[in-house]
Amino acid sequence: MKERSMQFVCTQCGRIETKWLGRCPDCGSWNSFEEELAAPSPQKSGKTAQMSTETKPVSLSEISVEPGFRYETGIFELDRVLGGGVMKGSSILLGGEPGIGKSTLMLQMIEKCSFNRSVLYVSGEESPSQVKLRAQRLELSLSNISIFCDTRIEVLVSVLQKTKPEVVVVDSLQTLSSSEVASPAGSVNQIRFCSTELVGVCKQMGISLFLIGHVTKEGVLAGPKVIEHLVDTVLYFDQAGSGVRLIRSAKNRFGSVDEIGIFHMSEKGLIAVENPSSFFITEREGEKTPPGIAYTAVVEGTRTFLVEIQALTVPSKNGFSRVYSDRIDTARVTRIAAILERHAQIHLNDQDIYVNVAGGMKLSEVSIELPLALALWSALQGVSLPSGLVSFGELSLAGEVRTIGFAEKREKAASELGFSRILLPKTNHSTGKLKQYPCETIRKALEICGTMKVK
Ligand code: TYD
Ligand code: MG
Repeated sequence: MKERSMQFVCTQCGRIETKWLGRCPDCGSWNSFEEELAAPSPQKSGKTAQMSTETKPVSLSEISVEPGFRYETGIFELDRVLGGGVMKGSSILLGGEPGIGKSTLMLQMIEKCSFNRSVLYVSGEESPSQVKLRAQRLELSLSNISIFCDTRIEVLVSVLQKTKPEVVVVDSLQTLSSSEVASPAGSVNQIRFCSTELVGVCKQMGISLFLIGHVTKEGVLAGPKVIEHLVDTVLYFDQAGSGVRLIRSAKNRFGSVDEIGIFHMSEKGLIAVENPSSFFITEREGEKTPPGIAYTAVVEGTRTFLVEIQALTVPSKNGFSRVYSDRIDTARVTRIAAILERHAQIHLNDQDIYVNVAGGMKLSEVSIELPLALALWSALQGVSLPSGLVSFGELSLAGEVRTIGFAEKREKAASELGFSRILLPKTNHSTGKLKQYPCETIRKALEICGTMKVK
């Protein structure tokens, strides 16, 4: 038998090196390389088997797609992120930190699927009774859900071949192991080998596979990044504010990656949030908003909702300004502060700047630059922005307010929530739903805000 060589593998991203490195050149993680025996290449993978059945190329037009090739899981927010449901035979990786709600969501999903499809829940993390107790707490119907608590890949594959389920959840990929791989469960070799096997078998059998993967900061276990390239869809579960959970797609062979799914964690499990604005803007008594608060409308895939940007400035204690912002990139906040300084003579260079987004949503659209500038200005002046005002626009380094996309969608969302005025780039067209205040520069935008009645 050919002796297998040793190799060093990054537990964060799976990069292989022949010698130990302190820092991974791919993902930049420190101390993430571990020595492992090189893994055997999976021979039995369904991919190879599938390939041998097709001997000549065929015209796309001749390929028949059976009805039900894509079906809905019944969890609308998840279907939205998947691109309108799950594809038969596709593999979906669901990553996220421990405790975020991956197992809860998958159990809720599998129950919905179980009413008209055969389903299997594979758990290497919890015992059957623990899963049952969780399902009972979630008030799920248990009768159609089968559970299997063995994570040896050889056993699992034979169970799949015997029972032929249509939907399988594996919780989690870090518990899978194969006797052909010498490394322990959770190592890069095991994860890569077992996932390749499982994805191949499921593709061949037309099983939709959901693989749960923990994202670990400590790097004890290899993370889901190691198999991102193997699967069709990669979803990440993220926590916005307390109780608010977002699902984002990092890769999707069958849909857009712009969609997000929004859930609220309750004592009855994850509940879809249909009106996200209610989570991301604060209801206030009376009309006047405090200084430092600006509203804007963000577009995430097919949805548009209102969010509240909050800014606070306090004189810095050690003479130089610092920016504390984890929901909006600090580099962007610093750039907007510099634009205000240069083009509107707003002096923030002796202030510490704090920026937050209500509900904990991370914002990365360029359209938030104008409202961010307004929030900073309002915070420094101690003056509230006009009530009922929503704004959006990108700021150039020359102080101009630049055109942004989806202006109509944003205006419509704001008008539905009762906003009455809109400050927007001059080059964008308003639909006339709100009283409009077009502006071409940041200086003009601040002038307009100064002249509008606050209350
Ligand atoms: P879980 O799905 O076990 O997380 P993961 O699989 O990602 O590790 O979720 C665990 C957390 O969710 C736990 O902190 C308790 C909370 N939770 C609720 O708030 N309500 C519920 O109905 C359930 C089942 C869990
Ligand atoms: Mg879990």
